[in-house]
Amino acid sequence: MTSLRGEGGPRYRHRPGVAAAYATIAVDRLTPVIGAEISGVDLAAPIPDAQMDELRRALAEHLVIFFRDQRIAPIQQLEFGRLFGELHLHPAAPHEPGHPELMIIQTDAQSTRANGEGWHTDVSCDEEPPMGSILYIKECPPQGGDTLFASMYAAYEALSDRMKAYLEGLRAVHDGEPVYRGLYANLGVADKPNYPRAEHPVIRTHPVTGRKALYVNAGFTTRLLGVPSDESAGILAYLFRHMENPLFQCRFRWRPGSIAFWDNRCAQHRAMWDYWPHRRYGNRVTIKGERPV
Ligand code: SIN
Repeated sequence: MTSLRGEGGPRYRHRPGVAAAYATIAVDRLTPVIGAEISGVDLAAPIPDAQMDELRRALAEHLVIFFRDQRIAPIQQLEFGRLFGELHLHPAAPHEPGHPELMIIQTDAQSTRANGEGWHTDVSCDEEPPMGSILYIKECPPQGGDTLFASMYAAYEALSDRMKAYLEGLRAVHDGEPVYRGLYANLGVADKPNYPRAEHPVIRTHPVTGRKALYVNAGFTTRLLGVPSDESAGILAYLFRHMENPLFQCRFRWRPGSIAFWDNRCAQHRAMWDYWPHRRYGNRVTIKGERPV
């Protein structure tokens, strides 16, 4: 792991802004940099406008927000997602019958691989990768199956000024092929002839917060453009190791009825598959995003 200890203490220090209080929800932060558990919301009931505004603000401030003890039907999960934008269709994953936007997240004794096992942002191989994902877990293993989330604002801010200057303006290839081919075979999904591939800036500016975030991930990013291949491999290896620093992370322990809603534009995540042969099952709704700039 990269050491962030400089001469006068840690090189990365979270500098919180002054956040206004919330009136319609309670927000319990998991760490100083990422993650907050939200209470006072029933996602099975209509959400008043003032509460929607606060949920949007909580997502912008905390990058991933969690809800506990929710009981929602598939249609309610889809409707909740649509409050944040048009829904995204996954290029490879299985979906619930009759609901192409309701992705199945399932691992059991027959699984040979698990969805999201490595650090990634969802479908960053799309030209316009998803802005956010809402995962509702209905069945949990007795232990394990947590999801880790990491702030890519924190990962960017902790880079040296020289590294920030080097990365500014660089672009990278994000390729779905090595990720998706064969990934869902045990769930009966046949491979497509091709999977998406796109080029994105290595540093992106979040369209809502205006903050800069590191936007390469070990799942999809295969190559930096405009530099020799050995330099690309070395820099990407450094960045992938750098962004894994636990200082930038939170870890969420699921219970049946928990929901996580993360912002793919500034956070990465990684699902722990440490519970084989037990089953973990849920649904993900993914919200369309914009071309990264
Ligand atoms: C995903 O990458 O969407 C899966 C996350 C999880 O299963 O926890």
